[in-house]
Amino acid sequence: MQNDIQEVLYSEEQIQLKVRELGAAVSRDYEGRNPLVICVLKGAFIFMADLSKNITIPIELDFMAVSSYGNSTRSSGEVRIVKDLDNSVEGRDILIVEDIIDSGLTLSYLIDVLERRNAKSVRVVALFDKPGRRTVDLNADYTGFSIPDAFVVGYGLDYAEHYRNLPYVGILKEEIYSNR
Ligand code: PRP
Ligand code: MN
Ligand code: MG
Repeated sequence: MQNDIQEVLYSEEQIQLKVRELGAAVSRDYEGRNPLVICVLKGAFIFMADLSKNITIPIELDFMAVSSYGNSTRSSGEVRIVKDLDNSVEGRDILIVEDIIDSGLTLSYLIDVLERRNAKSVRVVALFDKPGRRTVDLNADYTGFSIPDAFVVGYGLDYAEHYRNLPYVGILKEEIYSNR
C-alpha cells in the first residue's frame, strides 16, 4: 500500500496538529449552542473521529453518506444520498465535517438539502481544500490545508475504496489510476 504513494503531503503529526487547531476554533465559536456535527461518509470518518475528540463543548453527532465519485478519479457531478441522517436538523446549528472539497458539488448539494430542512445555520469544516478545482462557488468556514490539484489518498480519502486507512495523506502514483 505504501508503495503506491509517490509522496507524503501531510504526515500523521502535521494532520493531528491541524485537527487540534480546528477543534479549538469550533469549540470557541459554538460555545453554548449544542451543534449537530455531521460526518459526510465515507471520506470524513477519520477526520470526524479525531476532530470530535478535540471539541471540548457539548455536541451531537450524526452521519450521512453521499457519493459522487464512485470508483472514478473524477466526480460524476451527480450526488446521491446513500444514508440519510437519523436526527432532524430543524432549528439546529449544523456543522458539516468533510475530508476534502474538490469541485464543491457534494457540499453545495448537502448545504442546500439541510437549508431546505430548515436548519438554523449550516457551516462547513473541511480538512483539505482544492480551490483550483471548483465548479461551484463554495468555501468552507474552517479549512485545514489548501492543496494542489493532485490525486491524494489516505486519512479517509480513497481511490476505488482503497488507502482510506493510511494515517497520513499522500499523492497516489499515476500508474495506479491510469489505464483504468
Ligand atoms: C469525495 C470526498 C468529498 C467529495 C469532494 O467523496 O470525500 O466528499 O468527494 O468532491 P467534490 O467537492 O467534487 O464534490 P466521494 O464521493 O468520493 O465519496 P467517499 O467520501 O465515500 O469517498
Ligand atoms: Mn466524501
Ligand atoms: Mg471517494
